[in-house]
Amino acid sequence: MTDVASKGPAEGQGSDDRPVLTNRQGHQVYDNQNQRTVGARGPATLENYQFLEKISHFDRERIPERVVHARGVTTYGFFESYGRWGDEPISRFTRAKVFAEQGKRTDVAVRFSTVIGGRDSSEAARDPRGFAVKFYTEDGNWDLVGNNLAVFFIRDAIKFPDVIHALKPDPVSHEQKPARIFDFMSQTPECMHMLVNLFSPRGIPADYRHMQGFGVNTYKWVNAEGETVLVKYHWLPKQGVHSMTEEDAAAVQAHDLGHATKDLYEAIRRGEFPEWELVVQMMSDDEHPELDFDPLDDTKVWPEQEFPPKPVGRMVLDRVPDNYFAENEQASFGTGVLVDGLDFSDDKMLVGRTFSYSDTQRHRVGPNYLQLPVNRAKHASVATNQRDGQMAYDNSHGGENPEVNYEPSITGGLREGHYPTHDEQGPVIEGRLTRKRLPRTNDYLQAGQRYQLMQAWEKDDLVANFVTLISQAARPVQERMVWHFLLVDNELGLRVGEGLGIQPGEVAHLRPLASQDLTEEDHRRLANLG
Ligand code: HEM
Repeated sequence: MTDVASKGPAEGQGSDDRPVLTNRQGHQVYDNQNQRTVGARGPATLENYQFLEKISHFDRERIPERVVHARGVTTYGFFESYGRWGDEPISRFTRAKVFAEQGKRTDVAVRFSTVIGGRDSSEAARDPRGFAVKFYTEDGNWDLVGNNLAVFFIRDAIKFPDVIHALKPDPVSHEQKPARIFDFMSQTPECMHMLVNLFSPRGIPADYRHMQGFGVNTYKWVNAEGETVLVKYHWLPKQGVHSMTEEDAAAVQAHDLGHATKDLYEAIRRGEFPEWELVVQMMSDDEHPELDFDPLDDTKVWPEQEFPPKPVGRMVLDRVPDNYFAENEQASFGTGVLVDGLDFSDDKMLVGRTFSYSDTQRHRVGPNYLQLPVNRAKHASVATNQRDGQMAYDNSHGGENPEVNYEPSITGGLREGHYPTHDEQGPVIEGRLTRKRLPRTNDYLQAGQRYQLMQAWEKDDLVANFVTLISQAARPVQERMVWHFLLVDNELGLRVGEGLGIQPGEVAHLRPLASQDLTEEDHRRLANLG
């Protein structure tokens, strides 16, 4: 038998004034080395509460990782509004208080991430990077959940599970396979713009400090008169934009899978606080028939000459978290999290995303994920009739009559807030229920312009990456990809075709896909293929 009284701190383990280990019930643990057994050689007993608590909690330490963006890092800082651009107050366009005055600061939490790999995967992978910002405003939280690339693969949320299945490891051998990726992409012409970005050096940012962020989807701003404009958000790093080639990335991940997290932590700890400027592009809230793309299409950028980016504020990250699990794994961002003055557009990706985030978080973190410190609206008061559920712990009623957890009531309880000045806003929309793609898909033009803007070394890198990966796909997939690239930009198509041993004449017989609309320019190019 162990003599309890004779036990002191083990040799080399410090003095007696350290806090004593307990279990979660507050019971002191006087032996953390041996479980309770009948005699020194066992058997173990079932009422061994301390041991069972310890092991069973450990068994549940992991929550499901995010279905996408599993690897990431959260840091904290502030957003500071410029209040105006030029002579115009930002409040002319949005009544959101976060932009109200010059110099106004709002606390933020920012999570950077990769998309496809699991929780411990490489941060040097070719993959979009997540750039999710939570603004803790006095009107409640605002999440701006973006990526480092300005466009996305698809324009309708119903395709998201497909594109992610193609990009993730296959369900049989769990290998990520270029053959599957390009099989899907070859049948999805709207992804061309994203592909010329992702497979260029921009597809592997050097780290999280040296990359841009884009809201990607189209949102709305609403002013005090209820007038709306369409907006896109962009974060521009003061540190500059740096990227890696395949070779750079291979060298980095040969010795470190988490170089970007490390870089961010170390910079902040050194006092080198990374900073981004927030700029917005704006257009009037209508269909813009004069444009060759639809403003609700997230596979498109808005040309800067026509829609000049306007700086609205800056963001500085100056603090790292104390607890990776509580502040990163449990952090929950979503596109539905908007405050007064900011609104959704009818962008079909955005509305789909808005359902998906809180749905997955109720599953991944639990129904009370909004009670956790990193997620709760810490600068707004929360008073709700929501009750109970797994892990409910805060008394969020906030009123004088907590037993009245319903509304309306004559005896007390919570009342409704004041109606916003203009609840009815935006253009009148009419249409029959249907399932149709957006008009003006124009899948190739901007992809081609992006290629034409690249420097020679970037073009070389893009072509080499395409050839290496697409050569692993089936021959019909290779031919279809060359066909697409010839429509994106003749030179790109010829170069990838040459790398794959496919002449334009060999793909001239391919007909457009049923899922696509071609422009006159596309038809002209097709006619010249043979
Ligand atoms: C994370 C769905 C498109 C940026 C996620 C998660 C889901 C999801 C389920 C995991 C969230 C969690 O577990 O907390 C979707 C759907 C999309 C879509 C259904 C298309 C319809 C996009 C786009 C962007 C984006 C276009 C970029 C603009 C992000 C980011 C995260 C994320 C940054 C990580 C947030 C964090 O750090 O916790 N998405 N997503 N997603 N998504 Fe999307």
